[in-house]
Amino acid sequence: MEHSGSLYTDLSVYYDGFCHEVDYAAQAEFAERAFACFGHSEGRACMDLACGTGQLLAQMGARGFTLSGLDNSAEMLAATAVRCPDAELVLCDLASFSFTSRFDVITCFLYSLHYSHPVAAIRETLIRAYQALKPGGVIMFDLVDCQGITPHNDVITRLEQDGAHFTFQSGWRYSGEGEELALHVSICRDDVNDTQRWTDRHVMTATTIADVNKLMEAAGFEVTILERDFTALRQWDEQSFNVVMVGQKALADEEL
Ligand SMILES: C[S@@+](CC[C@H](N)C(=O)[O-])C[C@H]1O[C@@H](n2cnc3c(N)ncnc32)[C@H](O)[C@@H]1O
Repeated sequence: MEHSGSLYTDLSVYYDGFCHEVDYAAQAEFAERAFACFGHSEGRACMDLACGTGQLLAQMGARGFTLSGLDNSAEMLAATAVRCPDAELVLCDLASFSFTSRFDVITCFLYSLHYSHPVAAIRETLIRAYQALKPGGVIMFDLVDCQGITPHNDVITRLEQDGAHFTFQSGWRYSGEGEELALHVSICRDDVNDTQRWTDRHVMTATTIADVNKLMEAAGFEVTILERDFTALRQWDEQSFNVVMVGQKALADEEL
């Protein structure tokens, strides 16, 4: 049976299965090391933008960070609330948040900044993130350069769960021009009686590492670009298309 549905609303119950191969512990360890290396604020208040079901937040909490999360899906935030009962959660778009509290570290992984669409929205998100950081605080997020997107980059994972076999597939489609990057997602669930298949499509933003670097600098950040390798902090080799952007807010900057 074929269905369409949104992974982050009606299919949110499958999200953790979809991401079962994502190593959130490694991401959190990376984030903690990058914060120790580039951050100069004294606290450990962490905001995860597009926090999904809270898997990274849970790992950050285990490392002694206090937790806040933002997402525009009530269903995803409901899952975060169960996983991280002490987290402060905000239902909001990536390009329109404004917080009263300030953070030492802001994360946004699994390429979620690309959900800020179009590029003007990414600019807005970065400006707001800068305002939301304490002086000496750090933002970090992963990014794919649209020049590196090939038609054959789909990720396929499989999982046995509750007597059913799941196949999850996702991949970006980029026409080669413009700001629109399409994410195609499918979930196939087989059990002895039935096969069900859901498909979903998200509009994301196509951009380049160089352009986001400029947006970060314009927002006020001092930028470091690292390889997207969560096992190590490695300077970007200027060849690869998948990176982690790290932005520092100067210690001297006054609170707004
Ligand atoms: C690929 S998931 C990543 C979730 C989480 N960061 C993780 O690593 O598991 C993308 C998340 O972004 C959220 N999202 C998509 N567009 C958004 C927007 N414009 N504003 C806020 N959240 C958004 C979705 O609801 C979803 O939870």
